[in-house]
Amino acid sequence: MLLSEQAYRDIDREIAKYPPEQKQSAVMAALTIAQTEQGWVSPEIIRDVAAYLDMPAIAVQEVATFYAMYNTHKVGKYTLTICTNLPCALQGSTQAADYLKQKLGIDFHETTPDGLFTLLEGECMGACGDAPVIIANDKHMCCRMQPEKIDALIQELKESA
Ligand code: FES
Repeated sequence: MLLSEQAYRDIDREIAKYPPEQKQSAVMAALTIAQTEQGWVSPEIIRDVAAYLDMPAIAVQEVATFYAMYNTHKVGKYTLTICTNLPCALQGSTQAADYLKQKLGIDFHETTPDGLFTLLEGECMGACGDAPVIIANDKHMCCRMQPEKIDALIQELKESA
């Protein structure tokens, strides 16, 4: 068992939403619960979730690698995903991404030496009118991220670390 008892209880609650013979339908929820607890879905977690849901590990791996919200590589305590698609790029996201890289001292897909921040490049988040857009920890959408707001976000996350 790689996850906490609470995590397995949460997964059980998701499984209960489906007929008993279709418990694999809870795979996305199970991966999300695992990632929330562990920060990423390692190969061991993928095998564990597969065993728990009576699925082939490759099927869980396919889900984990298909959807961008699952981290299949180890990440820092906080992930910052900035949309770099064209509509955002035309509204300053390239400059915002450069600012983030310089501020954190890392490139995309890298983690700061203190293990706090991983910078990721994202696809359209459906908030093109609010560019530059950053999703913090796959959950909190931050809009119109000019340098002052980026500074404030990073400071806030550092203080809550
Ligand atoms: S292109 Fe960035 S949110 Fe749509």
